[in-house]
Amino acid sequence: MTTEIGNDIDRARAFLERGELVAIPTETVYGLAANGLDPHAILKIYSAKNRPQFNPLILHVANVDQVEKLVKAIPELCRKLMSNFSPGPITFLLSKSDIVPDLVTAGSSHVAIRIPDHELTRELLAQLDFPLAAPSANPSGYVSPVSPNHVLDGLDGKIPYILDGGICRVGLESTIVGFEEEVIVVHRLGAITPEDIEAVTGAKVVISLSHSSPITPGQLKSHYATTTPLFIGDIIELASVHAGKRLGILSFKTIYDIACAKQIILSEKADLEEAAAGLFSAMRELDASEVDVIITEQFPEYGIGAAINDRLSRAAFTDNE
Ligand code: TXA
Ligand code: MG
Repeated sequence: MTTEIGNDIDRARAFLERGELVAIPTETVYGLAANGLDPHAILKIYSAKNRPQFNPLILHVANVDQVEKLVKAIPELCRKLMSNFSPGPITFLLSKSDIVPDLVTAGSSHVAIRIPDHELTRELLAQLDFPLAAPSANPSGYVSPVSPNHVLDGLDGKIPYILDGGICRVGLESTIVGFEEEVIVVHRLGAITPEDIEAVTGAKVVISLSHSSPITPGQLKSHYATTTPLFIGDIIELASVHAGKRLGILSFKTIYDIACAKQIILSEKADLEEAAAGLFSAMRELDASEVDVIITEQFPEYGIGAAINDRLSRAAFTDNE
């Protein structure tokens, strides 16, 4: 199959209505989309990504009305979050209605739903009479794609169409939240922070990001990983530990005067949002260069910095993987 790249919404819609896969742009990362109510189409996602079927998928819709049909109820706290942050980079775990196939939720009674904030994809969703199931559009376990070319790198020949919406604005996957009684549980960190969530709801917010047998199986460690081993620590120390190797350096704001094969500084002006937006492109670029190891550092642990640290720690090399 040849993989075409274009910005033709009608063409994207035609493929999706035929049960085919289309990569779609969102503000976070590119998604690999299929008709979320058609098990046959959903199976194609798992096979194109080589994704284990115990890892459930997020359903993407155009608006809150479309959420109502897919869930038993929307808790008040969730409505508050939706009115503040949707469309936007936040996903809600809600009790699923019967029309949601078990293949979407991997058998769970809860479905993950998001209203993405990207003009092209919102227009596409508004024209469809089904939600789009879409995980990130990368082979399972690799770094998420933030451009059409990243999608092509991993899925060329496996999908018919990539809807080109440019580079993703946020660059990290959505925040995932669930609701337990009056508590909001954050299962994945993203651009909408626990502080943001607490500020608009006044509710208690608990962070639960387990690395092994998590509630959100995609949180397993060794996700988001580069093929080249990646180490986090003091960059100067790591450079001496790995002396003699070809080094790739990934830093927040500092230009290191260290002999290396390649160095990427994510934000010389120390802007965490700019750093987040460039993170996955930088990881991919270093991975594709002639380096033996990638060395990087801990980012400031506030705002979206916590989500950056989360992704780096999951990408980091450990002996027991
Ligand atoms: O920003 C995003 O969320 C992107 C864009 C494309 O929307 N999507 C994305 O999907 O990151 P994916 O599949 O790569 O990550 C979704 C995460 C996984 O960790 C998965 O285990 C979890 O959400 N998840 C999905 N459905 C779930 C469910 N019913 N219960 C618990 N976790 C779920
Ligand atoms: Mg993913």
